[in-house]
Amino acid sequence: MKDLFGNALLDYQNGNYTEDIITSTNISDDDVLPLPYLFRGFKAMPKLEQKALNLAKGSILDVGCGAGSHSLYLQQKGFQVKAIDISKGAIEVAKQRGVLNAEVKAVLEETEMFDSILLLMNGTGIFQELSLVSKYLKYLKGLLNTNGQILMDSSDIKYMYEDEDGGIWIDSNSNYYGELDYFLSYKGEKETPMKWLYLDFKTLQLACETVGLQCELVLEGEHFDYLAKLS
Ligand SMILES: C[S@@+](CC[C@H](N)C(=O)[O-])C[C@H]1O[C@@H](n2cnc3c(N)ncnc32)[C@H](O)[C@@H]1O
Repeated sequence: MKDLFGNALLDYQNGNYTEDIITSTNISDDDVLPLPYLFRGFKAMPKLEQKALNLAKGSILDVGCGAGSHSLYLQQKGFQVKAIDISKGAIEVAKQRGVLNAEVKAVLEETEMFDSILLLMNGTGIFQELSLVSKYLKYLKGLLNTNGQILMDSSDIKYMYEDEDGGIWIDSNSNYYGELDYFLSYKGEKETPMKWLYLDFKTLQLACETVGLQCELVLEGEHFDYLAKLS
């Protein structure tokens, strides 16, 4: 990984904001990911994220924290927060912004226990593909204190396969439709392609059942997105 995502966050944090990140997937064209969005405050966050922050309690793990926006908010509210991310640049930025406990770490390397675990901005993306979901869920479950909770958001992206007549065209012989190849570029440089998973609520619920987690639909967003609480 070249950590172009981290480089972009560092540029923004250091006052060198000249361009945004460009993303695309195997089923969609170029899209702009505005850097200021990754530094959003509570008011600029989607309702689903605001709800997740309101539900967070106790000791909190922010998985894939990015620039640390959610961690900062919770820390300012007096919670004990740990922020982790595989991006060195992201953790550097989160620290510079004031996140006290931030570490470069992949979620499967975390070993502490928490009351709340947050995975936000398509939190299931980190699971990469459907076949890995139960592995990640089992691992996350193992990091929960008694009565702990996992709060994560995702979307049912079936709509991305819709044609002009409203028909949905999904090849039943191919992988789960939410498994995408994700491409990112910044300042003309291309990041190593990665896998990024969007999971519809029902599929998440089924996966939770198999690992002994209860999965509750907390809130639905405006565009097939949702917040789930796993306990
Ligand atoms: C879409 S960004 C979301 C950032 C932040 N949560 C936000 O809402 O602004 C996903 C983040 O997850 C991180 N990430 C990806 N795989 C990860 C893993 N296995 N463990 C920890 N972080 C990971 C990426 O580096 C990236 O910062």
